[in-house]
Amino acid sequence: RRVVVLISGNGSNLQALIDAQSYGELGGEIVAVISNKADAYGLKRAHDAGIEAVALPHREYDSREAFDGALIKVIERHEPDLVVLAGFMRILTPMFVHRFHGRLLNIHPSLLPAYQGLNTHARALADGVEEHGVSVHFVTEELDGGPVVMQAVLKLRPGDTEETIIERIHAREHLIYPIAVRWFLEGRLQLGADGPTLDGVPL
Ligand code: GRF
Repeated sequence: RRVVVLISGNGSNLQALIDAQSYGELGGEIVAVISNKADAYGLKRAHDAGIEAVALPHREYDSREAFDGALIKVIERHEPDLVVLAGFMRILTPMFVHRFHGRLLNIHPSLLPAYQGLNTHARALADGVEEHGVSVHFVTEELDGGPVVMQAVLKLRPGDTEETIIERIHAREHLIYPIAVRWFLEGRLQLGADGPTLDGVPL
């Protein structure tokens, strides 16, 4: 089973997927990593792991549609079973989302449906919530609104700041994303007409 990972930055989640693959625990192979930013550190991680690393700077395209069209072409050359968004900081067009419907996963740093969009940690802290966390979800047209398949909770502590929770958030991301990807690649996790299922059971 073949996986393409899209990134924009550091790529620590990509690294967790690469590590899982190296332990034989990913259920498939990362065949390409694509970044819309040429200086993304994640491209070096891919290169170091012997994975094809592609920079596709969005600024070189006139429109979102043109960029997404180019992105689709690069992705499809690699014939992926699954496309994984791992810190890919671009809003995707409906055309793109439809093209990969049911085989497009994202990880978002909040307990969705809470805190869709950016700056999730700051907003959770400002609201004084007791629980924050991370979500893996199938991507649909609604930004950060697709069906959730897995979450990990982070209990906030007095005195927590954005900086103190980022590390604990990432630890949880690195734990759950490879599991969700493996379940998908093993055919256990699917997006059916009525929503996601795990081993045939609606989530
Ligand atoms: C993660 O917090 C993820 O939830 C969000 O972007 C961040 C990416 O981090 N979508 P990294 O590049 O994987 O380190």
